[in-house]
Amino acid sequence: MDIARSPSTPDGNPQMADAPPLPAEPPVIRREDYKPFPWRVPTTRLDFALGVEATRVTATLAVEPNPDAEPSSEIRLSGDGLEPASVTVDGHGSNSWRMEGSDLVIPLEQGAHELTIVTQIDPSANSQLMGLYASGGMLCTQCEAEGFRRIAFFPDRPDVLSTYTVRMEGPKRQFPVLLSNGNRTAAGEGGDGNHWAEWHDPWPKPSYLFALVAGDLVARTDTFTTMSGRTVELAIWVRGEDLPRTEHAMESLKKSMKWDEETFGREYDLDVFNIVAVGDFNMGAMENKGLNVFNTKYVLADPETATDGDYDGIEGVIAHEYFHNWSGNRVTCRDWFQLSLKEGFTVLRDQLFSQDMQGEAVNRIEDVRLLRSVQYPEDSGPLAHPIRPDSFREISNFYTATIYNKGAEVIRMMRTMAGPERFRQGTDLYFERHDGEAATCEDFVRAIEDGAGLDLTQFRRWYSQAGTPKVEVELEHDGETATLTLRQTVPPTPGQPDKQPMPIPLKYALFDRATGAHRGEELIVLDGTETQIAFGGFADKPVLSINRGFSAPVSIERDTPVEDLVFLAANDDDSFARYEAMQELIVGHLVAAVGEGFSGDDREAGRAAIGRAMTAILADAGLDDQMRGELMMLPSQTYVAEQLLVADPGRIHAEREALKGWLGQRLEDDLVAMHARASKASDGMDAAARGARKVKTQALVYLAAGNPDLAAQMAAAQYDAATTMTDRQGALMVLAGLPGIERTNKLIEFYNRYRGNALVIDKWFSLQASSLHPEAIAHVKALADHPDFTLKNPNRVRSLYMAFAGNPHAFHDPSGEGYRMIADLILALDPLNAQTAARFVPPLGRWRRIEPGRAALMRAQLERIAATPGLSRDTFEQVTRSLG
Ligand code: ARG
Ligand code: ZN
Repeated sequence: MDIARSPSTPDGNPQMADAPPLPAEPPVIRREDYKPFPWRVPTTRLDFALGVEATRVTATLAVEPNPDAEPSSEIRLSGDGLEPASVTVDGHGSNSWRMEGSDLVIPLEQGAHELTIVTQIDPSANSQLMGLYASGGMLCTQCEAEGFRRIAFFPDRPDVLSTYTVRMEGPKRQFPVLLSNGNRTAAGEGGDGNHWAEWHDPWPKPSYLFALVAGDLVARTDTFTTMSGRTVELAIWVRGEDLPRTEHAMESLKKSMKWDEETFGREYDLDVFNIVAVGDFNMGAMENKGLNVFNTKYVLADPETATDGDYDGIEGVIAHEYFHNWSGNRVTCRDWFQLSLKEGFTVLRDQLFSQDMQGEAVNRIEDVRLLRSVQYPEDSGPLAHPIRPDSFREISNFYTATIYNKGAEVIRMMRTMAGPERFRQGTDLYFERHDGEAATCEDFVRAIEDGAGLDLTQFRRWYSQAGTPKVEVELEHDGETATLTLRQTVPPTPGQPDKQPMPIPLKYALFDRATGAHRGEELIVLDGTETQIAFGGFADKPVLSINRGFSAPVSIERDTPVEDLVFLAANDDDSFARYEAMQELIVGHLVAAVGEGFSGDDREAGRAAIGRAMTAILADAGLDDQMRGELMMLPSQTYVAEQLLVADPGRIHAEREALKGWLGQRLEDDLVAMHARASKASDGMDAAARGARKVKTQALVYLAAGNPDLAAQMAAAQYDAATTMTDRQGALMVLAGLPGIERTNKLIEFYNRYRGNALVIDKWFSLQASSLHPEAIAHVKALADHPDFTLKNPNRVRSLYMAFAGNPHAFHDPSGEGYRMIADLILALDPLNAQTAARFVPPLGRWRRIEPGRAALMRAQLERIAATPGLSRDTFEQVTRSLG
């Protein structure tokens, strides 16, 4: 049922012959065309006769006219690859329905009706992993955004809310555990070794939040007592062998539940909360009401197999999905153009949670690094779209860093302008006004305006305009006066040539050079094109620290003297600003170095300044190691390329590696000493131990570039002594990029040690695909033929090919071979899993910003894909936008 989308013709239905042919091009869906659905569906009953190869679904919908919509004499139910085995209207078999494309259309008189439609599906053939599918012998669902229509004919849109009752029956040996949304209301034995369960979810929900799981699973259980004293039964369901790796997920869940009560006043609203981990999953996780389904990657962890980063990922994603219970489920989206209403807000909520759990400084830096390395390139390329898009062909393509991460930044700016207390009044009002509704971004903005007392009239432009604003910053000094000038421009993006200025909240401080202190942090909202502020009483020119805490998602353009950046890197009391000064110092150097007219002396001077700043960071006793690790990190190649109109990836890579090598040599003694000091730390999960692990691997990264033999020796020793995956993976990552026998030895050792553990073997693929090794391309080709490689598992595909597409030297090999490999992958994967295939288009789509030789090769691959008949909607849309 997956790959073939063509409708089939059931016998005895004369109207089937009229079904129009499928359009040659998938249609464009527009936000302005929104119309409420003519029917309401107060209740839905689903009856599943479960089988891995054949599942029969009987859906009974109570429908009635929607008084808020234009009446209609028929009801149109979405389907995808379905055919109705029978259609019953008010208890009578119906013959008057018809198929239009993949929709089922049933004539219906005004008034209340009951529709019963039977369909049969084959979960084992579902390689798209949307709808009901089989994974390792179990059955599970993914319905967001439009997967429910692959299970049953339904008004599969988020503004149709219904109360669900689900009954499922199947072989008890194969599916001892039967789960759905809400509470289990009944269960029993059937004939022939079958058993059944019935679940009822009292909260009306859209179809995208439906879930069902049937399988041989075991649970870690616990309880949580809510703020009003109710007891909630918690369970995390996994395969038996994975049970010992669920403790961290459970702790994260309980912390999330408590935090959402304390911070946003949100209490959980069912008696049970279930999480299921599944190995085959397109995304990270899914917030189905009362039954979250997770990629195993975001559930399973122990120190031996998961890195510190993996632990953080689990804590953050568990929180994210849990928080959706209010921001997404209790208040959902009117249509998919409003996706950022739930995603942007929920990302902000999970970011604030992680900050509270882990400390603000490092978390903020990590969030910004992700935004700038993934969302900024999106915003400056052919796929740029506002956080509330105006049109799409395939909604799956809009689960983007723009909707999620820029969406979170936009709401964070409102919070910054209002302050946390008033912001909370705004969110309280939002939840109170819209509980039980399908809302819009506009509803959210209005609630924040009314509740927090802000005027967001102009600020709404952040929802409608794409593109990362640039803010030019100038600080002049004359006599006793310092004058700050701020000027903004918002660059043109596809379909939006002209932009209006947007309100930009900037936190800043002016430092006195002599004392190293500032006069207090201030907030200015730049709401026009340009503004100027004067400050008196500065006998000497102060040092400006701006966009502190990354108060606005903009790029700051300023000509800051190198000594000011060195000063800020050493002295700024805002951690983000300190990190930023270091990044600016290095980015400035690399950008100049790959440009014209950069002399050997310029290079020496630039490196010397960076070396001084780095030495100070290594020596600073006041820094904790987690922050030290952040300050030591070089800006990513993507972020450097982003600063250039047209980038030469080869030159940036060479210059960046050379700087790394220079620092590795200059700071060798300090780095070796730091590595030795950090190696004495415990292997616990406290901040000090985690920091020690972080700087250890950072030290190896620099040494590998400066003194490869020494680094190989140290990395092999770190590998052998490792008691955590963080240390082991860090060491192996460094070795994977170096020639020599230790590389081979340790890669073999790692594989044998973890063979059979899918998540760890993913790391093994990924390390090799992202390695600095000159033969990385050949390694990736060999790995694609490895018996453990399969296109059927999205984690495995990403572990090899996403890592490869992000490997600057291999992907951008001047031969174009890297581009060809990604295009081959897209074409091979598209028929199997369109959603995942389309995610590989953006790396090729950056061609306009790449030097002409490579750009032509990238474009040629996009054209080759575009010329292939039978592309999915997903890939078609991404490729045509990328060429457009
Ligand atoms: N709502 C989920 C989350 O962010 C993501 C689900 C996306 N699914 C998809 N098929 N695009 O938590
Ligand atoms: Zn989400």
